[in-house]
Amino acid sequence: MSNIRKIGVLTSGGDSPGMNAAIRAVVRASIYYNIEVTGFIRGYEGLINNDFIEMDRKSVANIIQRGGTILKTARSEEFLTVEGRKKALATLQKNKVDALVVIGGDGTFVGADLFSKEHDFPVLGLPGTIDNDLVGTDFTIGYDSALNTVVDAVDKIRDTAESHDRLFLVEVMGRDSGLIALRSGIGVGAEAILIPEAKMGVEELLHKLDNSRKDKASKIIVVAEGDENGGAVGVAEILKLKYPQYDTKIAILGHIQRGGKPSCMDRVLASRLGVAAVEGLLNGKKTSMVGLVDKTITFTPFDHAVKHIDAETVMPKWVRLLDILAF
Ligand code: F6P
Repeated sequence: MSNIRKIGVLTSGGDSPGMNAAIRAVVRASIYYNIEVTGFIRGYEGLINNDFIEMDRKSVANIIQRGGTILKTARSEEFLTVEGRKKALATLQKNKVDALVVIGGDGTFVGADLFSKEHDFPVLGLPGTIDNDLVGTDFTIGYDSALNTVVDAVDKIRDTAESHDRLFLVEVMGRDSGLIALRSGIGVGAEAILIPEAKMGVEELLHKLDNSRKDKASKIIVVAEGDENGGAVGVAEILKLKYPQYDTKIAILGHIQRGGKPSCMDRVLASRLGVAAVEGLLNGKKTSMVGLVDKTITFTPFDHAVKHIDAETVMPKWVRLLDILAF
């Protein structure tokens, strides 16, 4: 029998489509189990500044389809300090909150790990980031929606690229992870993909272009923002110098990748993980991220979840796939 009577929920770090669906699931599951829910505003800032709203069934009605986060979000510097985390604990004690569900990415979980261990406070995390760069879940909430946004944008770019016989360098987000570039690149039939994990220099890219099909007029190269060649701008400079015969253009997709309606995959993932988080807390789980691995709910300690995907094991099969498809 759990002694949790009130759960706090917050979203932190970069927003991602599906965060609202996750909040809704946490609130509805809590109410189902007769637990009160408090929503903290702007992530850990809300905890530090005692800024919150009480949540009920109605406060999460009609949000499953909305992008962004109704609780707002922030990257809190203060929560990374011991003093900041003490203030957060004081807020939780004052409002009689017994456990927390934090929705965010690696930065969010680093803070959650410190806080949970320091104060022996039950915290579970939901992977909410477009980057898909967490260990312990096949997919993060928002990744599928961001991929669909990228694919939609690049399909449009392909139309004009094909009409003008142009080469486009399309830069996508992901910080130091290339997983958005990799999967969207396969999805749009890119001629090449540049990601930090593969460490492909521009020389190798030029070699690939030399050997690529000559009968295909347009070329799409998807570049991860964290790629070591300086992103789309850096690669374009070299291409323009060495390959003046290509009519090279740049498209940096930017924050459109974070907005828009969540896909059905993200809504369902967020709903499952949100309910699992509440049930996990009731069963005594803490200091872990809730994920879905091979269709099974898993709990991965925060300090392991933030270790990033093991590039060595993941990348070769993808690079091979791309080489076969782009040949
Ligand atoms: O982590 C999500 C993400 O969108 C990254 O892909 C990107 O590098 C970063 O956040 C951008 O952050 P901000 O919106 O603070 O500029």
